[in-house]
Amino acid sequence: MSASTATEVRVRCATLADCDTLALLRSRLQAALEAENAALWRMTEARQNALRTFYAQSVSDPSVLVLLAEVGSPGAPIIAGTATGRIEAGRDVAKFGSIEDVWVEPEQRRRGVFRALLTELTRFFEAHDVPELTVGFAHGGAASELWQHFGFQPAVVLSNGSLAAVKARLARS
Ligand SMILES: CC(C)(COP(=O)(O)OP(=O)(O)OC[C@H]1O[C@@H](n2cnc3c(N)ncnc32)[C@H](O)[C@@H]1OP(=O)(O)O)[C@@H](O)C(=O)NCCC(=O)NCCS
Repeated sequence: MSASTATEVRVRCATLADCDTLALLRSRLQAALEAENAALWRMTEARQNALRTFYAQSVSDPSVLVLLAEVGSPGAPIIAGTATGRIEAGRDVAKFGSIEDVWVEPEQRRRGVFRALLTELTRFFEAHDVPELTVGFAHGGAASELWQHFGFQPAVVLSNGSLAAVKARLARS
């Protein structure tokens, strides 16, 4: 698989050999998300350590497409970004496509890397006859504008609280 743009972005399926890279990119995304929203739960060390295994399972799963975007010469490619598409069975609704773990390296942004990744994801979802898509992102972050740009509308609010806060409020009632 390869999708080219004017800036020579190449998109390919990730393989088992890419799992360390994927884990690193996912860690960078997590750090950016946590910096964007203080209410976001922090990723545990156990999960950090399990990322490689998670990606090893994902790249082998036919209902998941893990993509890597590369720039530079084909002989010495530079990793520019990643995105994952996952077909979800749906509990109350029909199967849908979930877009996850979108990350473009800061120095590669605004050159069409994400566009190339999204193009491949749309092909994947179309091939699996999945017309409805969803994506999650940190509230108040830049991603909100991005997804609006591509026609996504906020539909569900995931709101984080603490047991202590709920108990304190109950005690005052
Ligand atoms: C958001 C992000 C993926 C964009 O990647 P990118 O490679 O710079 O995007 P592209 O250059 O391919 O831009 C594609 C389109 O999105 C638009 N776009 C890019 N970044 C945008 C932003 N922050 N807000 C609004 N629109 C944006 C571009 O204008 C472009 O539109 P067009 O093709 O219709 O002209 C990248 O900035 C990033 O990794 N950010 C941090 C992580 C993050 O927010 N991930 C998303 C979590 S769901």
